[in-house]
Amino acid sequence: MKTIIEPFKIKSIEPIKFTTQAEREEVLQRAFYNPFLIPADDVLIDLLTDSGTSAMSAKQWAGIMDGDESYAGSRSFFRFEKAVRGLTGLKYIIPTHQGRAAEKILFSIVGGPGKYIPNNTHFDTTRANVEFTGAEAVDLLIEDGKKPDLIADFKGNMDIQALESFIEKRGAENIPLCMITITNNSGGGQPVSMANIRETKALLRKYSIPLFLDACRFAENAFFIKKREPGYANKSIVEIAREMFSYADGCTMSAKKDALVNMGGFLALNDAELATKARNILIVTEGFPTYGGLAGRDLEAIAQGLEEIVDEHYLTYRIRSVEYLGEKLIKANVPIVRPPGGHAIYLDAKRFASHLSPEQYPGQAIVCELYRLGGIRTVEIGSVMFGRYDKSTHTLIPAAMELVRLAIPRRVYTQSHIDYVAEVVLEVYANRNTLKGLVITEEAPMLRHFTAKFRVL
Ligand code: F0G
Repeated sequence: MKTIIEPFKIKSIEPIKFTTQAEREEVLQRAFYNPFLIPADDVLIDLLTDSGTSAMSAKQWAGIMDGDESYAGSRSFFRFEKAVRGLTGLKYIIPTHQGRAAEKILFSIVGGPGKYIPNNTHFDTTRANVEFTGAEAVDLLIEDGKKPDLIADFKGNMDIQALESFIEKRGAENIPLCMITITNNSGGGQPVSMANIRETKALLRKYSIPLFLDACRFAENAFFIKKREPGYANKSIVEIAREMFSYADGCTMSAKKDALVNMGGFLALNDAELATKARNILIVTEGFPTYGGLAGRDLEAIAQGLEEIVDEHYLTYRIRSVEYLGEKLIKANVPIVRPPGGHAIYLDAKRFASHLSPEQYPGQAIVCELYRLGGIRTVEIGSVMFGRYDKSTHTLIPAAMELVRLAIPRRVYTQSHIDYVAEVVLEVYANRNTLKGLVITEEAPMLRHFTAKFRVL
C-alpha cells in the first residue's frame, strides 16, 4: 500500500513563530506553568485542542461569504438544519454557539438536585454543566477503558452491567437521561461500538430513560466502527452515523470538532415538549431559534463541514495521521494510551514520570517540559483536570488516569510538523527523570485547569 496522503492541497498559510528556550522559560513563568495562560503567539505547534482549530475548506470560506444574516428564517439556518437532520434523523435542531451551550440548556431543563446523569465518561464541561444544576454526573466506562496499555477495539464503551445496577440503585425516575460520549475524549479518544450503543439503548428502553449522544467526534467514531466492527466494512460513514443516531433520543454537539468549524454547536431532539422548553431558554441566553448564538455564515460553514467530514479519504488520512504519531512513540517505548485514539495521542503520565506522585501532577510536569523544550502546547487530562479534594482530610482524590493529551487539529499540521512533535516527546522522555512536580497555588471552584496557577517544586 502507498503512503496515505493529505486529501487536500494548501491554498492559504499562517506563519508560526519560533522562540528560544530561554524565551519559553520566561513565558512559562509568566503563565504560572499553565498552558491555557500562554499567549498563542508564543506557541510553535499548538496541540492544546482539536476544538475550533480546524482549517476550513475553500467551500466553507465561500459559505462564509454566502451566509444569510437575516435575523429570522435565514436560508443558512435551513441549510444547516437539513444537514444535521440528514445525518442524525433527529427532529428538532437547535443551534447554539458551542457544545457547552447545548449542554447548559439541556441540563438546566432535566437536571437539578437528586438527579443523576450517567455517561461513559463526561467531558469536563459536560460534568460541570450537570453539576452546576445540583445533579450528579456519573462515569460508567468499561474497566478495559481505564487501562492505558491494554489494546482493544472499543475502549470507550459504556459498562452496561454497571449502568443497569446504577439504575436499579438510584431509580429510573431520578435519571432524566443517559449520555454516551463518542469518541470518549477524557478516556483517550477511544471509540464506542455500534453494539454498545444499541445495547445501551435497549437497556434504557426498559426503564424509559432517553439516550443522548455527546456527538462532537461522531465521524471519527463512525470510521472506527467501519474499520473494526464486523458487519460495517461495506457501509458508508453516513449510513453508520445514521444508525448510531437512530438509537438516540437526542444529542449535544460541539461543531468545533467534527463539523470542521471554528465556532458552533447544536442540540438536537426528538421530544417536542423538551424542544419547546429548550428553545425558550435559547431565546433568553443564545438567540432566536434560527440562529441561536451563531451568525448565518457560521451555520453555512457547519453545513458544509458536515458534508466534508464524512468523506472517507479525509477520515482515512485523519485517523492514520494520529496513528502515525502514536506508532513513532510506541516504537521508542514511550507509554501512551493504546491503541491511538481518533483525535489525539495521550501520554500515560503515570508511567512516563513514574517518580512523581499524583499530588505532584506528573501530567502537568510533562506539559511544561514539552513547551520548554519544543514550543509544543499540550494539555493535562489527569488530576489537575479531574482531581478532587477530600475536604475532611485535605488530600487529593486523584483522577482515574494521569494523561497528557496531544490533540491534533484537523487539516492543520503536515507530516513534518508531526515528525518534529515526536522528536520533542522522545527527548522529554529520554530525560524524564529530571521532570519536576508542581503544586497549585491558585484555583477556581469549577473547571480549575483553565485558570489554575502552579509553582514548580
Ligand atoms: N463534549 C466533548 C466530548 C468535548 O470534547 C467538548 C469540548 C465538549 C463537549 C464541549 O464543547 O468546547 O464546543 O463547548 N472539548 C474541547 C477539547 C474543549 O479540548 O476537548 P465546546
